[in-house]
Parts: sequence; C-alpha cells; structure tokens
Amino acid sequence: MAKAILIAAGAAFLAASGVAANGTPEPAALETRPDADDLVALRQAGMRMMVSTLAAVGRGAEDEATPLKRAGFAIGGLQRFAQALPSLYGAETAAVPGTRALPEVWSDREGFETRAAEFKSAVDALGAAAAADDRTAFTQALESTKAACKACHDSFRAE
Ligand code: HEC
Repeated sequence: MAKAILIAAGAAFLAASGVAANGTPEPAALETRPDADDLVALRQAGMRMMVSTLAAVGRGAEDEATPLKRAGFAIGGLQRFAQALPSLYGAETAAVPGTRALPEVWSDREGFETRAAEFKSAVDALGAAAAADDRTAFTQALESTKAACKACHDSFRAE
C-alpha cells in the first residue's frame, strides 16, 4: 500500500517534470528548436570558426610533403556548415539585435541562396581536391572559396 502510494507520487513528479517513467524526456519538454537569438549566435559562431578553419587548411597545404588528405576532416566542417547555412537565416532572425545580416537576405532570397550554393560548390571542390591530393585544383578551390565568402558579404552583410 505504502509502496503503491510512493510509486504514484513518483509518477506524478516525473509527469510534472516532463520526464516519462522510463527516464525519457517527454517530447513537449524538449525545446530543441533554436529560437531567433540562437540562430544568430549559431551563424555568427559558424562564420567565425570558418575563418580559423580556412586559415589552418591553407597553412596545412603550404608544406608540399604533407598529403592534402589531412585537410579532409576540417574541410568536411566547412561543407556541413555550407549545407546548413541558408536555414540559419529564417525571417524571424532579421530584427535580432546585433545581427549584421542586411535586409537583402530576405528581400533577395534567390540571390542569397545562389551565393550560398556557390559557396557550397567551392568547398565541395576543395574537399574533392584534397581527397585526390591535387595541389593545382586545391589552390584554385581555396581561391574560389575565399571569393565566395566575399561575394556573399558584399551584398548581404553590413560593414
Ligand atoms: C551566403 C552568404 C555568406 C557566405 C557564403 C559567407 N558568409 Fe560570412 N556572413 C554572412 C552574413 C549575412 C553575415 C552576418 C551574420 C549576422 O551577423 O547575423 C556573415 C558574418 C560573418 C562574420 C562575422 C561573424 C560575427 O561574429 O559577427 C565572419 C567573420 C564571416 N561571416 C566569415 C565568413 C567566411 C570566412 C566565409 C567563407 C569561408 C563566409 N563568411 C561565407 C554571409 C555569408
């Protein structure tokens, strides 16, 4: 009897805290969707991390004795960020204080997504060149990647 009451009380506590009796959080208690502030933080963090990643990838390629394949892991990070990039620019993020995204990100969505797709192609080419250990293709892809960063910033990022 006392045990049954304890179990019932425990179940009520778990239900109130959003945790099912088996320890799995209830879906309603999981707030996994980033809000507008988080999306701006995510994209700014990703952009900042790309600066050091790209610099490290470029430095790593300077020593001809080092196989370019070693850069594959870091380039994989750039490719994944490039893939998700447009989804970090939902309309709800346009007015978040501290964003440097220009209103054109939303008024010229097609242009923005084109720049993002060009960037993705450039980092994909970089990844392919690294995998093939092709230095000429790698140097070209590194230049087109940097150009793709700048092309998007010129139209879609405030000074
Ligand atoms: C498709 C467009 C696009 C591409 C491609 C792009 N950026 Fe950006 N970047 C932006 C926008 C828009 C912002 C402003 C984000 C904000 O403040 O909300 C930004 C912001 C930044 C910032 C400032 C982050 C901060 O903390 O304020 C840096 C640094 C940056 N980008 C570096 C890069 C680098 C390096 C690349 C290429 C490897 C790159 N970006 C590619 C659009 C782009």
